[in-house]
Amino acid sequence: MSTRERKGMMRDDALKGMVVIITGGGTGLGLAMARYCLQLGASVCITSRKLDVLTTTAAELEQETGGAVLPLACDVRKYEDVEAMRDAVLARFGKVDALVNNAAGNFISPTERLSSNAFKTIIDIVLMGTVNCTLALGKHWIAKGESDKAILNITTTYAWTGSGYVVPSACAKAGVLALTRSLASEWGRKGIRTNAVAPGPFPTKGAWSRLVPGELMERFDMAQRVPLGRVGEHQELADLVAYLISPYSAYVNGEVVTIDGGEWLKGAGQFNMLDMVEPGMWDEIERMVRSTKGS
Ligand code: HXC
Ligand code: NAP
Repeated sequence: MSTRERKGMMRDDALKGMVVIITGGGTGLGLAMARYCLQLGASVCITSRKLDVLTTTAAELEQETGGAVLPLACDVRKYEDVEAMRDAVLARFGKVDALVNNAAGNFISPTERLSSNAFKTIIDIVLMGTVNCTLALGKHWIAKGESDKAILNITTTYAWTGSGYVVPSACAKAGVLALTRSLASEWGRKGIRTNAVAPGPFPTKGAWSRLVPGELMERFDMAQRVPLGRVGEHQELADLVAYLISPYSAYVNGEVVTIDGGEWLKGAGQFNMLDMVEPGMWDEIERMVRSTKGS
């Protein structure tokens, strides 16, 4: 199927009756997730720091999908904000079924140029923001004895490999990975599944303007790093997220699904640079290798 023809993967009623919180849900990938959750029958709370952006987005999404969207300002770094956000969602919808920890902050910089506060800012948004939302919802679900709940964290592939020039983000996303697997064990028995997705490059204004600004975009074409030769489409990620918070993934817990067209494995494989060998050279290369005798 051509990627341009792609429609959502899930059946129409896959999230019917569910209430989903998506942090950072007013822009970029969070917005794509919110739209798809609504199309699948969920009610959605989108939160971030900018209420004007959220309010406009919520009105557009309601118009487009006919679903219910609650826009709430909430800085995920502040636990009191997060508790207030949770309580406002409970007041409006009566319950929460799934939390998508999508909010993030990031920018490229040589690490030695960073202040301690710059490093802390990213850790606070990405790791502590995820922790704060997870704690606020987890405490509520456990206190009420509610089950069939899902937490879905958005990490990235350099959570495993690390990466220069985005070191605070790499540290924070690695923490999110550890949080995902740890809570899958601890809270699984309480009926709370915890999973994550690790996207590769998906163009968004928020990420691209901070990671490949200006002429870096042309110099470092992200699609060229991907074996499939392209960047991701937002709906492809939304499909995966919807599956992982839906009852269809009820037996998936503690999983981290990479969705990057093979990007990070291509960077890791020692001989993948042989892509650059012109096909016509392989006869000569084979002859040389076969002619080698002994060690
Ligand atoms: C060095 C910088 C800097 C830069 C900010 N700082 N930008 N240092 N280089 N480019 C420093 C500031 O000087 C300050 O330190 C500290 O960081 C906090 O900056 P503030 O502007 O006060 O913080 P704040 O207003 O909270 O903004 C947070 C932010 C901003 C992260 C800096 O970019 C933001 O709001 N981002 C949200 C959206 C976002 O980042 N989306 C992209 C996610 S992409 P001092 O010491 O001066 O006080 C992503 C992709 C992952 O995660 C994987 C890709 C493959
Ligand atoms: P984005 O549009 O910039 O999304 C980040 C969102 O987080 C924004 O809506 C932002 O809204 C919100 N946010 C930032 N700080 C916050 C805070 N303190 N409290 C609450 N909300 C906050 O970028 P994106 O590309 O869609 O990224 C979404 C997620 O995908 C992130 O977790 C990112 O790490 C991950 N990811 C993206 C890519 C990619 O290629 N795009 C690859 C791998 C992983 P406000 O500024 O209004 O607060």
